[in-house]
Amino acid sequence: MKVLGIETSCDDTAVALVEDGRKVLSNLISSQIDVHRRFGGVVPELASRAHVEVLTPLLDDALSQAGLRYSDVEGVAVTVGPGLAGALLVGLAAAKAVALATGAPFIGVNHLEGHIYANFLEHGDPQPPYVCFIVSGGHTLLAHMAEQGTYQVMGQTVDDAAGEAFDKVARFLGLGYPGGPVLDELATRGDPDAIRFPRAMEGQGYDFSLSGLKTAVIRHVRRERAEGREPPVEDVAASFQEAVVDVQVHKTIAAAREREVQRVLLGGGVVANRRLRERMQQAADEAGLTVLYPSLPLCTDNAAMIACAGYHRLARGELTSFEIGADPGLPLDRALPERRPA
Ligand code: KG4
Ligand code: ZN
Repeated sequence: MKVLGIETSCDDTAVALVEDGRKVLSNLISSQIDVHRRFGGVVPELASRAHVEVLTPLLDDALSQAGLRYSDVEGVAVTVGPGLAGALLVGLAAAKAVALATGAPFIGVNHLEGHIYANFLEHGDPQPPYVCFIVSGGHTLLAHMAEQGTYQVMGQTVDDAAGEAFDKVARFLGLGYPGGPVLDELATRGDPDAIRFPRAMEGQGYDFSLSGLKTAVIRHVRRERAEGREPPVEDVAASFQEAVVDVQVHKTIAAAREREVQRVLLGGGVVANRRLRERMQQAADEAGLTVLYPSLPLCTDNAAMIACAGYHRLARGELTSFEIGADPGLPLDRALPERRPA
């Protein structure tokens, strides 16, 4: 089954064609980083407008790269939420139009489930149970996936998402946007033990808090500067990153132990972080667990992961009602309105 995936939840316009949830026929992303860079973050109204401008040509390009025509599309999968309302609407409208025009089955996908399914594009079909750790610009969340399509959220951030914390710290340090990749790179040349930043909510269940850490970094740099010292940015980056990753690794492994699962699965833009991958792999090896994470291009937002998640839902006989609208706050564990097959 050839599934068209469309993703417009934030600042990337993405279209992909994926066969049987495994074979990526095309996977295109039009990044809006240049549109938002000078604002230091995503401006929702500009994001919606940019999606409108590029989505139709991107659809044509994705089809032609895959060597397909609209009539070859056998399923249409689109991100319904969570994300920016106006941005999501652009993708939804396009997906419904393609599904209605071609008669292909229509399936709405939760963006967070998409990040989870990015793994199955490369690592084979899902073999639940998993403990899933989703960590991106908008989310930091631990969930138990007992079987396909069902999730129990175990904990999440009570304030900033991890990617947001990376972006805010980078902005404070004058390193540009998005901040994650820059800090990751700087940290490779810094000492993770140079500054002991707080490990928030360690040993307190599965929730996360990151705003205190961000403030601690800012305070440290200001204090040093007030005393006439410029703290090495590599050390600040490495020590900040270590504090983030420490808590994430401990909580993820503890969640897997508590739920007695053998497999841990990572997804989301921050999984591109080298230190997180390295430390999680190490901890999983020590605990005798298997850890899955997507290759770098599939960690950040893309439409192949949406097509993959949609394929598995369609294969289980699910269909989403055309009545569905954008759902900016959609939680991972809420089912979408179903349409009965005709
Ligand atoms: O999943 P994603 O593309 O978009 C959301 O759904 O939010 O994640 C984007 C986030 C940004 O905050 C970015 O700074 C962060 O992922 N990120 C990283 C790295 N690469 C991207 N954070 C830390 N280290 C990285 N290497
Ligand atoms: Zn994402």
